[in-house]
Amino acid sequence: MAEPLLRLEKLAKDFGSVTAVKPTTIDIDKGEFFALLGPSGCGKTTLLKMIGGFTQPQSGRILIEGEDVTRLGPEKRPVNTVFQGYGLFPHMTVPQNIGYGLKRQKVSGGELTDRVQEAIDLVKLGDFVNRAIDELSGGQQQRVALARALVMRPKILLLDEPLSALDLKLRQQMQRELRRIHDEIGGTFIVVTHDQGEALSLADNVAVMRQGSIEQIGDPAEVYDQPANQFVSTFIGEANLIPGRRENGCATLETGYSWNSDGEDEDLVCMIRPESIEFAQDKRSEIVVPARLVARTYQGATALLDFETAAGTDLRAVENHSTDKTRIAVGQDIELAWSKADMRIFPAEKNS
Ligand SMILES: Nc1ncnc2c1ncn2[C@@H]1O[C@H](COP(=O)(O)OP(=O)(O)OP(=O)(O)O)[C@@H](O)[C@H]1O
Ligand SMILES: [Mg+2]
Repeated sequence: MAEPLLRLEKLAKDFGSVTAVKPTTIDIDKGEFFALLGPSGCGKTTLLKMIGGFTQPQSGRILIEGEDVTRLGPEKRPVNTVFQGYGLFPHMTVPQNIGYGLKRQKVSGGELTDRVQEAIDLVKLGDFVNRAIDELSGGQQQRVALARALVMRPKILLLDEPLSALDLKLRQQMQRELRRIHDEIGGTFIVVTHDQGEALSLADNVAVMRQGSIEQIGDPAEVYDQPANQFVSTFIGEANLIPGRRENGCATLETGYSWNSDGEDEDLVCMIRPESIEFAQDKRSEIVVPARLVARTYQGATALLDFETAAGTDLRAVENHSTDKTRIAVGQDIELAWSKADMRIFPAEKNS
């Protein structure tokens, strides 16, 4: 197998008594768009700062193309970072901001002008180059910050919550732009986000973090369809969790359904995605649960249907207005159904 572009080997960081990142091992290939996803405080920024060289790890190594860069300063690494809040110089013009790093590297004259112009074109800043920084919108400032990092032609571009300051419309537009720029330059991007939708739509691979640990790494379909545990299943997408228990080799769900299951006696949860639940008046799947519709939330092409089972379990399903022709009325009793292949069984976690 080819060597990865970036290898993190058991990289760990404590701040006094706080463990920010537990020993973490990740390989990232050249050309990957990699997302670090997790709730606030789980260690995403700390991991990114170690890769960038701004925070020294307690232990472990960082290899870029096989070379150990763990003890190198930020400017000695072929890596550039776009920080949260962008950190632009307000008293400099847009081209001066973008060219700043090149000037420090003693690049000047025609090469400086050409590379700055190339970066301006890449992020499509053309019409705004003559504005002062504080006359630019959030999205435009974001483009300047991106151009300032890209002009250095880093092997790896690190982006910490690059779009979190933008409103929804602009964020979606900049997501497409980020992906376009990545594809256009064939770059390797590592993006930190706590927005699971952003990670799923942007990245080739996603690492889901919790409390300093990587819980799962996989492509978006893997982490959505085969979540490693209860935490990942609820953090990525929407999940119904049905309590259950395994005893004496037999697992039983609260809603009723049992199967043979090897393992210790313990509390379980069954995870089923809303879109995997069918209305049994139309179809017959393996698992059938009587339930009453308690609420319907209209969403345009779909509606979210909230059911309650006889056992008191809340279950959410999706009504698709182009395929589900019969409307279930609030208060109506029906049968919900799903196939065993669509459910995931995890040990129950108390706080996730
Ligand atoms: N310089 C520091 N000194 C002490 N503790 C720190 C320091 N930097 C981070 N921490 C702690 O380390 C943990 C991880 O912080 P980090 O900033 O990496 O989280 P994060 O996942 O980026 O969160 P957010 O999504 O809120 O930005 C937190 O508990 C934080 O309080
Ligand atoms: Mg952070």
